[in-house]
Amino acid sequence: MPYYRVTGEIPRKRHVRFRRPDGGLYAEELMGEEGFTSDSSLLYHAHPPTAIVKSEGLDDAADTGAVPNHPLLPRHFRTQELPAGGDLVLGRQLLMANDDVRISFAAAGAASELYRNSAGDEAIYVRNGAARFESVYGSIDAGAGDYVVVPRGTIHRWLPAAGEPVHALVIEARGHIRPPRRYLSACGQFLEHAPYCERDLRGPDGPLLAEGEDVPVIVRNRGGLTRLSYAFHPFDVVGWDGYLYPYAFNIADFEPIVKRTHAPPPVHQTFEGPNFVICSFCPRPLDFDPEAVPIPYNHHNVDSDEMMYYVAGDYSARQGSGVGLGSITLHPSGFTHGPQPGAVEAVIRGLEEGRTTTDETAVMIDTFRPLLLAPASRRAEDPEYAWSWAKAARSEQNAG
Ligand SMILES: [Fe+2]
Repeated sequence: MPYYRVTGEIPRKRHVRFRRPDGGLYAEELMGEEGFTSDSSLLYHAHPPTAIVKSEGLDDAADTGAVPNHPLLPRHFRTQELPAGGDLVLGRQLLMANDDVRISFAAAGAASELYRNSAGDEAIYVRNGAARFESVYGSIDAGAGDYVVVPRGTIHRWLPAAGEPVHALVIEARGHIRPPRRYLSACGQFLEHAPYCERDLRGPDGPLLAEGEDVPVIVRNRGGLTRLSYAFHPFDVVGWDGYLYPYAFNIADFEPIVKRTHAPPPVHQTFEGPNFVICSFCPRPLDFDPEAVPIPYNHHNVDSDEMMYYVAGDYSARQGSGVGLGSITLHPSGFTHGPQPGAVEAVIRGLEEGRTTTDETAVMIDTFRPLLLAPASRRAEDPEYAWSWAKAARSEQNAG
């Protein structure tokens, strides 16, 4: 997180005696990245955060059965067809994964247990619905269009609002998820050319205090899932300060960067992770040169697999592909992708008729290592997608 925040009560200096009203000492805890050499926060607990009473291993059914994308194909998964149910932690339906990132879909209506991901940071993109995110740092109210970035090790839980389930894309990194470095000053301030800045980030309100004994927390580490019970409720923090905490950023606060002719996806980059990037395609003016081809050119990112989640608006470049809202496409390295034949002419006709903007909204993840396909993705797969470009090209040829 790029800037300092303080919440609740903290002592005048680090590592000095800080007493509870009953005279006992608060327990100070450093949450820090990269072995004391990067961002950190100091939290002050009413009870020792070390006091555990039980540890049970859990099966992680989602973790099994991911296989290479073989034979190689572009893929289309309809998340609209995946079952709703469960919560935003154990109800995750793993779609694809590699050693750097796991990408899941959830349609969750139930409250989650307390959870800590110690394998890496998470970014949860809420497509629709609303949920309260509660953590040791405090709470964040999340709604449609929010990315909630959760630093590794943060104990938290998700409480969906009553009503429609929360549809979310869950991105679990094996490392840290941060704003792109090129948008930050040497001291971490967002630069003027960045598509968003500190004012767009919502930190936690709080802190939260909860009572309880023998409180279970699901912990993910490289070994899998464990249910670890704490002697005291982990939400016992009276104050904290530092640069490390969860935050929310809404996709509607991303200021799109446009060019006269078509700009490539790095202009949409929102976050970077280890060997992957997250991009936000947002409503924007179409490319405005009178000769511009206003939608993407065919491209082959030879080092990347590209996953796209279509979250809102009208996606002109994908007309005739079967892709709709809630769809996820995977365009792997080894395959050149681009608009469906006919889409360019359709958008040019639209421009001539005065449709000069696009309201398309999508979340894209480009990974630099191939994505394996997990069983849930196969259950939602559209088997005709791979042939949609050829089908459109042939019918254009026949029409001509
Ligand atoms: Fe692409």
